[in-house]
Amino acid sequence: MSSSITTKIIDIHDQGGAIVMHNCDCIRGIADHVASGSVDVVVTSPPYNLGIEYRTYDDRIERGEYLEWTRKWASEVARALSPAGSFFLNIGSRPRDPWGPFQVATELGEIFVLQNVIHWIKSIAISQDDVGDYPGIEGDVAVGHYKPINSKRFINDCHEYIFHFTHKGNVRLDRLAVGVPYQDKSNIDRWAREGREPVDLRCRGNTWFIPYETITRRSSDRPHPATFPSKLPEMCIRLHGLDRCNLVMDPFSGLGNTAVACARLGIPFIGYEIDEFYFAESIERVAQALDESAKDSAGDAQNARQLGLFEQDVPSNSNL
Ligand SMILES: C[S@@+](CC[C@H](N)C(=O)[O-])C[C@H]1O[C@@H](n2cnc3c(N)ncnc32)[C@H](O)[C@@H]1O
Repeated sequence: MSSSITTKIIDIHDQGGAIVMHNCDCIRGIADHVASGSVDVVVTSPPYNLGIEYRTYDDRIERGEYLEWTRKWASEVARALSPAGSFFLNIGSRPRDPWGPFQVATELGEIFVLQNVIHWIKSIAISQDDVGDYPGIEGDVAVGHYKPINSKRFINDCHEYIFHFTHKGNVRLDRLAVGVPYQDKSNIDRWAREGREPVDLRCRGNTWFIPYETITRRSSDRPHPATFPSKLPEMCIRLHGLDRCNLVMDPFSGLGNTAVACARLGIPFIGYEIDEFYFAESIERVAQALDESAKDSAGDAQNARQLGLFEQDVPSNSNL
């Protein structure tokens, strides 16, 4: 464990905030730096206690001790979380040890209310017979990545949980922010809400297919044994509602995928990672994400200029 804290602050000036990353133990860090009720969304994935080979953290502790530690850091999260905040906890299991996520959820049920359970689907096989006559699906589909296991007893594990905890179980969500278009367009009008423009979006439900990005070299492309794709925290933050999210926290930031999502969304972030190497990698990844976002916005501005969208004098009969 680091004896002193290294902190990196990356300004996201346009948004009037910063991405703040600390290389230290999260229980101590949150207690020292985070004001009570100041965090709107927490998205995190703690060590699963499955014997995963992290560089620093020992992921093989006695289950009772692990659950006691879980309660300690989660109590700090509860103190930091705003009254209408959302805490998304991603956790997986192993076929030989399937109870971990349920034990953690039960422990946290003493502190929070479990408002939603989402399944993060890493890989899925869909046969065309089951789909029927769908546009664009012309054969059997098998998509995504998972770690195959060699077993006569167990099947491959292709999903993890995302437990959505809140203080009281009544936090309003922006379901359509991660919505999907209707397949049958006649539903657009059928389900339109009174007094609102009909929209071609419906709630996506609680099965989220989010594949890992394809990588060519693990040691350089993803040098960490247990990450989630940055799209996962991005979807959690959008579901909570961007307009109600002024600060996001990840107590176990690893390679910084929650921070990367915040960098892309322009939302202030505070994170903790105990391992120096993962911490250093996470900073590079955030810097790169900010660079890419800046290039994208410059490109958008140029396209807009080419289309004349920035012209001052728009004629009154313009169709724009
Ligand atoms: C499951 S990984 C998180 C990965 C992250 N979601 C990502 O996508 O990169 C858990 C991380 O927690 C870190 N960790 C373990 N104990 C910690 C502690 N007490 N405080 C802060 N970080 C810790 C580990 O080093 C590991 O990187």
